[in-house]
Amino acid sequence: MYTGLQHLHSFLAYILLAALIFSLGFVIFKFVKKSAFTEKVRKVALIGFIASHLQLLVGLILYFISPLGISNFSGEMMGDTMARLYALEHPIMMILGIVLISVGYIKAKKPGDDISRFKTVIIFYTLGLVLILSRIPWQVWP
Ligand code: HEM
Repeated sequence: MYTGLQHLHSFLAYILLAALIFSLGFVIFKFVKKSAFTEKVRKVALIGFIASHLQLLVGLILYFISPLGISNFSGEMMGDTMARLYALEHPIMMILGIVLISVGYIKAKKPGDDISRFKTVIIFYTLGLVLILSRIPWQVWP
């Protein structure tokens, strides 16, 4: 179960990054073209939202079963860069990134003027993506 989830989490990281870049790229393209914020735009933004929630679910389970997750949490762990990344920094920053993406999607979903709906997705998704990219364990992945 642990190895399966480890592989799934690693695979979903590709899917999530691709989904976020696609959602964001599409929304920026439509915004620059001065298109309306249509149902299609909302659905493309939803792709990034769903992918981030899937990864959140798998990450949370992994956190409780991985030897690098909560079970490794100690004062000693704080002195080890990689151990601290897995047990503390990675989960916190990923959750914050996903919260930003969720807030952006939920705010943009509500009726309002098209320009602010576009800007909401662009700002929140960009910030979310930056937080996620900042704490991926690049030393071991891809
Ligand atoms: C945006 C969401 C996330 C992304 C893109 C992401 C990405 C990754 C990547 C690329 C790895 C390394 C995989 C490998 O060694 O091949 C990893 C490991 C890990 N992640 Fe995440 N993660 C995310 C969210 C989370 C969350 C929310 C948690 C926990 C609350 C979490 C907990 C872990 C743990 C414990 C490991 C170490 C697993 C192990 O090798 O035992 N991740 N993550």
